[in-house]
Amino acid sequence: MKKILVTGGAGFLGSHLSDRLIAEKNDVLVADNFFTGSKKNIEHLINNPFFEFIRHDVTFPLYVEVNQIYNLACPASPIHYQHDPVQTTKTSVHGAINMLGLAKRTGATILQASTSEVYGDPEIHPQTEDYWGRVNPIGIRSCYDEGKRCAETLFFDYHRQHQLQIKIVRIFNTYGPRMALNDGRVVSNFIVQALLNKDITIYGDGSQTRSFCYVDDLVDAMVSMMNSPKDVLGPINIGNPAEHSMLELAEIILKLTESKSKLVFRPLPSDDPKQRKPHIQQAKDKLRWEPKVSVHDGLKETINYFKKVLGT
Ligand SMILES: NC(=O)c1ccc[n+]([C@@H]2O[C@H](COP(=O)([O-])OP(=O)(O)OC[C@H]3O[C@@H](n4cnc5c(N)ncnc54)[C@H](O)[C@@H]3O)[C@@H](O)[C@H]2O)c1
Repeated sequence: MKKILVTGGAGFLGSHLSDRLIAEKNDVLVADNFFTGSKKNIEHLINNPFFEFIRHDVTFPLYVEVNQIYNLACPASPIHYQHDPVQTTKTSVHGAINMLGLAKRTGATILQASTSEVYGDPEIHPQTEDYWGRVNPIGIRSCYDEGKRCAETLFFDYHRQHQLQIKIVRIFNTYGPRMALNDGRVVSNFIVQALLNKDITIYGDGSQTRSFCYVDDLVDAMVSMMNSPKDVLGPINIGNPAEHSMLELAEIILKLTESKSKLVFRPLPSDDPKQRKPHIQQAKDKLRWEPKVSVHDGLKETINYFKKVLGT
């Protein structure tokens, strides 16, 4: 049985990852400070003898004995990471240093949940892992983008300097049950607005595209990456290459929820990327992974979750 630490395990992705790791008979320790995570996301695990929770901020060192570390702690949506940008950078950078230090002491393999935001507003499309990105270092998204870039740097330096077993996945937009209601991410925004029959807010003209990966597919990829051969370090893009414009997404959600909501248009926020689509050949070749869940099926599950949360 492996002892596995999941930082940020009370969050959206971390709680699904913890479910999977426990189902696969591992001993799971979640460390989270509940900045954006919630007890609700892990309450079903609390009495499981193979689950343990510790309230901990990763910007401080943590002394535990583990075989694997999934480092997910970090607010992920612009509303949350811009709320306290200094803390966001600290979480990415100090958090990475602390978790890498822990991996160094215990000999654990450590996986970093990086992000497509490291590509910034990209000039190439779709983005391959060897593209270095186009990131504004002083904008309002920089605390997250540059924090995550610096974490990747630290992972590679710990690997080169201290021979740590590292793994980096660059996650593209992922959605599913347990996304926070209030985080302003497009899928949760549209679904909540549609279920409440409120106006659906589209930023810009709605032609900007995103690719959406269902959480179960993402968890498959993270676990495959963690258990991949030693020479597979990444970064590897994980996402669903099927591209949808914001208008298209809004229309699918309106249909699935049978909502009466109307579309309203608002100015595009600063530094908002126009297009985002993963190139996933490396994941296919090295992890034998590709997404399986269609946007319709994934959205149906997510809508059912939000119906329960909203009581609609
Ligand atoms: N969901 C996505 O589409 C997406 C895309 C790219 C990357 N990611 C990355 O995946 C990870 C998880 O994202 P998510 O969508 O589950 O977000 P989330 O906000 O639901 O989860 C993040 C978790 O980290 C915790 N946390 C934040 N700061 C912390 C700190 N200093 N110490 C301890 N815990 C802390 C939060 O309380 C929360 O439980 C993040 O690192 C994020 O950058 C997510």
